[in-house]
Amino acid sequence: MHGLHFAADGRCTEIPSMPKPYRVPDKLRLQSCQAVEKYGMVWVCLADEPRHPMPNWDAAVGGAARPIFLPNDVWKAAASRHVENFNDLAHFPWVHAGTFGGDKAVAIPRHEVERTDFGLRFVVDYVEGANRYQDGFEGAEREVRYTYELTYPFATLLIMEPEGSAARYFIGDVVCPESAHVSRIFQVLSDTAGMPDRDFWVKDQALVNEEDRPMVEEQRPEDLPLDLSAEIHIPADRVSLEYRRGLIERFGLGAPMAA
Ligand SMILES: [Fe+2]
Repeated sequence: MHGLHFAADGRCTEIPSMPKPYRVPDKLRLQSCQAVEKYGMVWVCLADEPRHPMPNWDAAVGGAARPIFLPNDVWKAAASRHVENFNDLAHFPWVHAGTFGGDKAVAIPRHEVERTDFGLRFVVDYVEGANRYQDGFEGAEREVRYTYELTYPFATLLIMEPEGSAARYFIGDVVCPESAHVSRIFQVLSDTAGMPDRDFWVKDQALVNEEDRPMVEEQRPEDLPLDLSAEIHIPADRVSLEYRRGLIERFGLGAPMAA
């Protein structure tokens, strides 16, 4: 607000409000951190060195793909709450009844959750209640194979393969915590055909997000419970449990506070 000038290394070079001559204090500098521009986003590491590599979304978003960047959004929820919801299927028929949610009476197929070097991976076939893939498919329902590739702590790539389609669709989802209970959501969409219908997908994903957001914002406690014995879990919580286990084991979270 006072028009200070800074050099690329963060040093302050000019203080216009100061009568000349003046000396800029050495300590007056911007805090800088490592940053990489990739997949249309700036990824910043606040620690001296990253603990994990960045997620690899080259196949989905890099190369010939023409990604669509959704306007980023702020959710009043913990980043981990958003991640759990993004990796959950059992809420589809209930929360996404207005978009792609399927039959409420159909159980979610059992699926293995694989632990990868930096996250989790699982594959599930799901029958969506409406076809949203614009490839000429005729039918009210459509089976879609979902592959989720989660990179700890907050990045997920969802790969969607609709039955009978040669194209694969991708949604990359990354959460940047703004505070413990406020999260900025970044999403990027693409498909293997390289011709996503921008208007359709932006609108569709916005509708889906608006179905999720109020439900996630209402979840209590606001912090993800990391005492795994404190809650009752059903089979649909398998991914959540693995995710929470990973947060505990990889980051030392959930340990009792020292007295
Ligand atoms: Fe959802």
